[in-house]
Amino acid sequence: MTELSLIHRFEPGTDAGRRPLLLLHGTGGDESDLLPLGRAVAPGAALLSPRGAVLENGMPRFFRRLAEGVFDEADVRRRADDLAEFVAAARRAYGIDAPVALGFSNGANIAAATLLLRPEALAGAVLLRPMMPLGDPPEADLAGKPVLMLSGATDPIVPADNARRLADLLGRAGARVEHAVLPAGHGLTQTDIARIGAWMERERVPATA
Ligand code: MLT
Repeated sequence: MTELSLIHRFEPGTDAGRRPLLLLHGTGGDESDLLPLGRAVAPGAALLSPRGAVLENGMPRFFRRLAEGVFDEADVRRRADDLAEFVAAARRAYGIDAPVALGFSNGANIAAATLLLRPEALAGAVLLRPMMPLGDPPEADLAGKPVLMLSGATDPIVPADNARRLADLLGRAGARVEHAVLPAGHGLTQTDIARIGAWMERERVPATA
């Protein structure tokens, strides 16, 4: 990896009480997709938004999959490492603290993998419609890291017990997990946006920190 090897957009922060956000799009998205969401849920936060480097039929993703919901786990591990290195380089280049990931679908899954494999890269995470990214996850130390997981009750892609297992795993690793199952499918709703905004308010950096 060279410095800042992922195509990305960066918006500097204007509110020191907000942690930077690492925005991770879903399959077929790009680095512009989640900027409006980031601005809406955390006004004034620095926004770092990379584009996934894997292409599936022309659609950017953050790691390869063999079929829907069946992941190439060697690639998951490699891409989580790449993402952690990208974050480290971006922190040096832009002078920002460790970010909170805000990932949707495939972006949530690479965020979960990065939490488990490279916990130092992230200060926490908001995982929107995530699933278990690895069959044999490592024992990570996520002590005190805040994680908001929002699942959809009628999500046709993510089985309910799969999301529950991920929440349990992150909790056992020490993360402060809040997991809600919303009356929604795989797509995001206004309820997601309200829940994320409220969580971001609660997770503001204390003025004395
Ligand atoms: C994935 O491949 O990460 C999940 O199936 C979600 C998706 O991108 O459809």
